[in-house]
Amino acid sequence: MAFAEYPVQSLMYITNRPELVFTEGKGSWLTDHNGKRYLDFVQGWAVNCLGHSNQAMIDALVDQSKKLFNPSPAFYNEPMLKLAKQLTDASCFDKVFFANSGAEANEGAIKLARKWGRKHKNGAFEIITMDHSFHGRTLATMSASGKAGWDTIFAPQVPGFPKAELNDLASVEKLINDKTVAIMLEPVQGEGGVIPASREFMQGLRKLADQHKLLFIVDEVQTGCGRCGTMFAYELSGVEPDIMTLGKGIGGGVPLAALLCTAESPASKPATRAAPTTATR
Ligand SMILES: Cc1ncc(COP(=O)(O)O)c(C=O)c1O
Repeated sequence: MAFAEYPVQSLMYITNRPELVFTEGKGSWLTDHNGKRYLDFVQGWAVNCLGHSNQAMIDALVDQSKKLFNPSPAFYNEPMLKLAKQLTDASCFDKVFFANSGAEANEGAIKLARKWGRKHKNGAFEIITMDHSFHGRTLATMSASGKAGWDTIFAPQVPGFPKAELNDLASVEKLINDKTVAIMLEPVQGEGGVIPASREFMQGLRKLADQHKLLFIVDEVQTGCGRCGTMFAYELSGVEPDIMTLGKGIGGGVPLAALLCTAESPASKPATRAAPTTATR
């Protein structure tokens, strides 16, 4: 089929796209509508950690789709429980919440921190984030991000995200006040240009968080799931954060993300509440 025959005008413009339509992917290679092959260094923006159309993923997706698609997050399902246990076994965290995208997991982290601030820190809600950071494309995660120009593009921003400099502990300390509830960063800034937070900085942040009773949040949407040599990048700096978010690699190309936290910190169990059932909804 010629490119001109595709209904590209029906798609909302978000970015300049080359005049080709990808029709197949296998491992590291993509094929376009003319049968031309491309060695793919993009891999869905660092998402397909097993490459395109990996056989183990196909088998898992086909097997599960024959059994059950979606019983609602208000009920347990077997893969949800199995994956939550694998994630808590592999990390320093005890609780998992699943989401569809990295931005959504980060929104969850922000909400959890604000909830914790309301309960334990007189309504403190400010989360110190880093200049040049990237946390997603929802309004709150854009406001948390330190990307140039993002403060005005969909103004006004969601308030409560003062920006510090990566690897400059004094710039973080300067921003801490009685409204501060958390510090949030990528252990290696991804979109900002592959800039690692130093081991000293990460350890310093842990100390600051402990001193001022703040939550230490790591956004491992890009660095998690084995990308940096350990399962999670926080392990490289010898610190244990309170909250971690995962995306990209955890789904290998399908929409999956997760928010993890420790049992003591924000995810305390809600007061006993009857589980919703189909009969009560
Ligand atoms: C560090 C980081 N956090 C969050 C996100 C947002 O993830 P998603 O695009 O799945 O919403 C990204 C995406 O590139 C990212 O690199």
